[in-house]
Order: sequence, then structure tokens, then C-alpha cells
Amino acid sequence: MRLAQILFSQGFGSRRQCAGLVDAGLVRVHDQVVTEPDAEFDPDGLVFEVEGRRWPYHAKALLLLHKPAGYECSRKPGRHPSVLSLLPAPLRQRGVQPVGRLDEDTTGVLLLTDDGALLHRLTSPRHHVAKVYEVRTRHALASDQLQRLLAGVVLDDDPKPVRAAAAEITGPHELRLTLTEGKYHQVKRMLAAVGNRVEALHRSAFGDWRLPDGLAPGQWCWLPQPAGQPAPTAPR
Ligand code: URA
Repeated sequence: MRLAQILFSQGFGSRRQCAGLVDAGLVRVHDQVVTEPDAEFDPDGLVFEVEGRRWPYHAKALLLLHKPAGYECSRKPGRHPSVLSLLPAPLRQRGVQPVGRLDEDTTGVLLLTDDGALLHRLTSPRHHVAKVYEVRTRHALASDQLQRLLAGVVLDDDPKPVRAAAAEITGPHELRLTLTEGKYHQVKRMLAAVGNRVEALHRSAFGDWRLPDGLAPGQWCWLPQPAGQPAPTAPR
């Protein structure tokens, strides 16, 4: 694949801008400056540098962001900045978008991808991808609340009950809840339906993916593409 084409596919601007980056001597491959935009490289496993920053080539991007509070998952955010503002420009340029949404005040695991098929697989209710939430509640948790969350509660927009796939009280005001659907404000509405209230919400797992050690709020990392694999259904 031509070097300018590789840069274009990775979000470094228009074809002309990508050729310009190479022409200007701003791109290194295998520790050597390459000034020929048409130079051919095998993109698989390629790591190149643009203006001193190392980039691994990914045909499709799959990222894990440690979402901090105070960011919206929308592309066109309202009152708070978008989670996309936490990513470098080439990733925004290539069109990565959040896999599902977390509320502005929710923290934790947020995947982002530019792979439409994967996005669909991970968000489709048919695939039942497990999402694990660590919930802090205003009122002390009672075991009957836990039983009702597991048995199913009716939310205001759908007569069909929604139930937690798993629920475990982890402290007087702490609950670990596993959901396989992704309804709007689902955790907050489920807790409200059993007479409690969410004070803080953190997603600790999405499918098999958890926060890697040391990934601070606001930081992100690449994930290997699970291409061809069935979507993971349960956290490790
Ligand atoms: N449920 C909620 O209420 N909020 C989130 O951000 C995620 C799940």
C-alpha cells in the first residue's frame, strides 16, 4: 500500500494533505524518513511516525477509553465536551464513535470504533453483550431491592420488564449490576424503580473488556480487533 494512502486510511487528512506530510519529511517508517508518497509498504503490523508520534496501522480502529465524568458521548455535545475531544485528531477524522453511550456523570469502560459491523454486533440487543456497573446508591441497599432487580422491573417507556443478568451487593450502599441491554439511563431508572437512587456509576466491564491497569481517567488504548469472533458475552 502506498505510504500516502496508508496515512489517508488512518485519518491524517485528505489524500493531498497526506502526500504533503510525506513530501515535507514529517513521516518516518522503520526509523527512516520517507519522502516519497508513493513508496510501498505492507500495512499489516506497520508502525510509522508522523511528526514524532508513533502510530500502529489498524485497518479498523477499536479503542478503550477510561471515560471521566464531565464528558458526553454525543458527537454534538450540549453542555459538556464530547468524549471524542479526548482522542487525537486522526482518530476523530477516521470517524470513530462510541459503542453505546454512558451518561455525562458515568465513568469507566467506553469502547470506540470506526467498524460499523462491530459497532452493530456490540450494541445489538440480540447479542446480549454483558455490561458490568459498579453502583453507589443514596439509600442502604435492601435484599428485596436486589431480588426485584433480578426478577425484573417495569420502566416508564416499556411495559416489558427489564431485569439484571446478575446483581451482587458489594457494600451497604454498593451494588455490582450486570446488564445485557442498553436502555437509556437504564441503571438509574432501574434503581429508581426499586425505590433507591444512583449517586455514582462506574462501568467496570464491557463484554470481556476491562480497564487495563494504569489507564487513568481520560486516557485510551488500542484494542486488538475481535474480527470474526462472536461478541463476548460475559466479563472475565
Ligand atoms: N445506565 C445509566 O443509567 N447510565 C449510564 O451511563 C449507563 C447505564
